Amino acid sequence: MEQHDSPIRLTILPENQVVEVVLPITLMEVLAEAGIALTAPCAAQGTCGKCLVQIERGKSTESLSPPTGLELELLTSRRLRDGFRLACQSQVRADTTVSIPPTSRASEMRILLGGASRKVTLEPSIVKRFVRLPPQQLEGAFAEINLLKDVLDLRADLRADYAILRELPIILQQTNRQLTVSTCEDRIIALEPGDTADGVYGLALDVGTTTVVGVLMGACKTWGSPPSFTCAPRLSSFP
Ligand code: FES
Repeated sequence: MEQHDSPIRLTILPENQVVEVVLPITLMEVLAEAGIALTAPCAAQGTCGKCLVQIERGKSTESLSPPTGLELELLTSRRLRDGFRLACQSQVRADTTVSIPPTSRASEMRILLGGASRKVTLEPSIVKRFVRLPPQQLEGAFAEINLLKDVLDLRADLRADYAILRELPIILQQTNRQLTVSTCEDRIIALEPGDTADGVYGLALDVGTTTVVGVLMGACKTWGSPPSFTCAPRLSSFP
């Protein structure tokens, strides 16, 4: 490893912050030690091109290691000529000055919290319907399921799992034969005591390269009238 008599200094712009560097170290590591986090969705593998920094004009290109193959792939020759480098790929070799574009700073990332809203008509596969079942003449879960299909005017080939078949008589007994039925295409997937038909939620996910943003929205689906998302979203992020 190259030995230096005096410490190597890196000047960071626009802060004009000067830090002393102990080699070997990459620009990204120096910046992290200085408290400046760069956007790095590829975890410094040199594949995303987001950790872009610029060596100030007039500074020796030899203050950093030569561009790696990954940098040559991701950066145009003009960018390289203008002093742009990928911080995760560049080893510091001598005193230099580096400018950090706002777009490269992790702290500059913003999650969009609002925007234009509009009414959306949905056609979900899963729907809920509240029903009051009339008294049953025949005993048994299969008879109740068939009655349910008749009352809901559901498809004759509608299926229900064994767990649903077992649950149905119990719920009917406990709730005076009033329940909410959830169906997904040709299956009964859930039974709930009483009327919970308005308790419908939709989850919207935006899976980005650095952040996953989820919005849980209340939706109202009643039989025969399409649901619409009407409430203001609550937003959570999982960086
Ligand atoms: S962090 Fe992805 S290229 Fe540097």
